[in-house]
Amino acid sequence: MTDRPEVVVHDTADDLAARTAARLAAALATAQAARGTASVVLTGGRTGGAVLAALRDAALDWSTVDVYWGDERFLPAGDPERNETLAREALLDHVPVSPERVHPMAPSDGEYGDDPDAAAEAYAVLLRDVPAFDVCLLGVGEEGHTASLFPHTPAVLETARAVVAVRDCPKPPPTRVSLTLPTIRRASAVWLMTTGAAKAEAVAAALAGAGETDIPAAGARGRQETVWMLDKSAAGSL
Ligand code: 6PG
Repeated sequence: MTDRPEVVVHDTADDLAARTAARLAAALATAQAARGTASVVLTGGRTGGAVLAALRDAALDWSTVDVYWGDERFLPAGDPERNETLAREALLDHVPVSPERVHPMAPSDGEYGDDPDAAAEAYAVLLRDVPAFDVCLLGVGEEGHTASLFPHTPAVLETARAVVAVRDCPKPPPTRVSLTLPTIRRASAVWLMTTGAAKAEAVAAALAGAGETDIPAAGARGRQETVWMLDKSAAGSL
C-alpha cells in the first residue's frame, strides 16, 4: 500500500481532464504490454465524465480493456443519472471496446429486480474472478465521499463485503451500489480527481491524514500508486 500520495495540481479542470486522460491511456497501455489486457474502474461525477470524454481520441487498443465501475446509481437501465449512461455517452460509445469486457453494475430493472443488495452481491461475485484493477478512478465529494462511500456510514466501515448497497445517500439519487474501501485498495493505482473550491477543505483534510470514516476519500489508496489530481481551486487549502 502506498504511504504518501502523489499530488498533481493543474491550472484548470480542462487541463486536469486532458492530462489525466493521457496518463490513463499510458497506464493502460503499460498494463497491456505486460499482461495483454488492462482494467480500469470508472467513476461518476462531472470530473470523471470530463476525463472520459478526453479519452476518446487516445491511441489505445480498447479491445483488451476491461471496464468496471466504482459505484452506480441504482436506477433503471439507460437512466441519464446512471454512471454507466454517463460513461457510454462520454466515451464507451465512441471507442471500440469489446462489449463482453464492459461490466456495468446491475440496473434497478435488470435481472436482480429492484434489489440493490442482490445487485451488489452479483458484482462482488463478478469481481472474484478479477485479479486486480490496474487503475481505479474516483471522484471526491465536498464532504469527502468517494464512490458512494459517505462519511460515518456502515458502507465506509465495511470490510467483509467487496460491494455493498448504499441507501439514503446525501448525494441524490439515494440508492446506490458501491465498491468498498478494501476493494478499491485492491487496485494497483488509485487516482482521485476533483476540481473546484468547494472540494478544497475535504482534499486538505484527506491529505493531512484524516481518517477514512470522516473523509472516505482518505481511505482510497492504491497498492503501488495513489494520485490526487486537482485543479488549483481544489488544491486551494493545501
Ligand atoms: C457519483 C460519483 C461520486 C462523484 C463525486 C464527485 O456517482 O456521484 O461516483 O463519487 O465522483 O460526488 O462528483 P463531481 O466530480 O461531479 O464533483
